[in-house]
Amino acid sequence: MKKTYALITGASSGIGLEIAKSLAKRNYNLVLTARRENLLKSLAEELRLNFGVEVDYISCDLTDPKAPEVLYDFCKHKEYQIDLLVNNAGYAIPSSFDQTPMEEEEKFIRVLGISVIALCKLFIKDMLDRGKGRIMIISSVAAYAPPSSIQTLYGPIKTFMNRFSEGLNLNYNHRGITSTAVCPGYTITNFHSASGVQNEMDNVPGFMKKDAPRVAEEAVQATLKGNHVYVPTKTFKVIVLLLKIIPHSFFSLVSSVLAPGRYDSK
Ligand SMILES: NC(=O)c1ccc[n+]([C@@H]2O[C@H](COP(=O)([O-])OP(=O)(O)OC[C@H]3O[C@@H](n4cnc5c(N)ncnc54)[C@H](OP(=O)(O)O)[C@@H]3O)[C@@H](O)[C@H]2O)c1
Repeated sequence: MKKTYALITGASSGIGLEIAKSLAKRNYNLVLTARRENLLKSLAEELRLNFGVEVDYISCDLTDPKAPEVLYDFCKHKEYQIDLLVNNAGYAIPSSFDQTPMEEEEKFIRVLGISVIALCKLFIKDMLDRGKGRIMIISSVAAYAPPSSIQTLYGPIKTFMNRFSEGLNLNYNHRGITSTAVCPGYTITNFHSASGVQNEMDNVPGFMKKDAPRVAEEAVQATLKGNHVYVPTKTFKVIVLLLKIIPHSFFSLVSSVLAPGRYDSK
């Protein structure tokens, strides 16, 4: 019998790295991917040693249109049966919309959107043949928030991913597949420095900054339960509830105090 594996994108740091640890703790064998091969290699060694699971890795840039197929072929060739697909890789563009070349916007949409769709399309066929499979899509609280004055496309692509995940559930739950859109709020990772918005992060009050291991652990639990949408931590559950019931103009006013710069009108 083939051993079952989870494939995790964006596993070299932050939430993805912590998801890898959380799954290894649960005895999942893993395929890790991201661009920084040295980090994947050392994480793979650490996980093998600490948890006794099988861990392989492949360096891959998801801006490359061929990347999803490369990942799928890698797993097929090595006979890794992917029962859990974690779409986590992501970043934000720091420059304003008018200053960002279209090529950069396309790469962004490819990593956070098109590659997710392509990976789901490739792996879901095998999951359907086996009659079971779990998909996790790391979305964001930004999917529910009003438009931000920075990172113009970030919220929209996360909203798109939530809707995409809903569509997967509608079409495939009865065939044993679940898709969980996980919507974290501010999480302490490399995300903000890598995306050039660390200053904005520094202004956020401490109670709104969550630890990546906690967010990852909750995300894994929700995905294994088959939840359709999951917002980690009580703080952000309340914030998402408020976002659904209060006018966005009021939210923008409160946010301009709590996270100055992000929702201020220009
Ligand atoms: N941190 C937050 O506050 C927060 C809140 C809500 C949602 N999220 C979401 O959480 C997910 C993970 O982010 P994080 O906070 O853990 O940030 P992070 O620590 O910066 O991790 C991002 C991961 O994505 C990978 N990645 C980025 N660009 C890639 C590319 N072109 N090809 C392949 N892999 C790429 C990075 O690996 P390499 O650089 O090695 O390629 C890294 O492993 C993202 O989808 C983000 O939108 C984060």
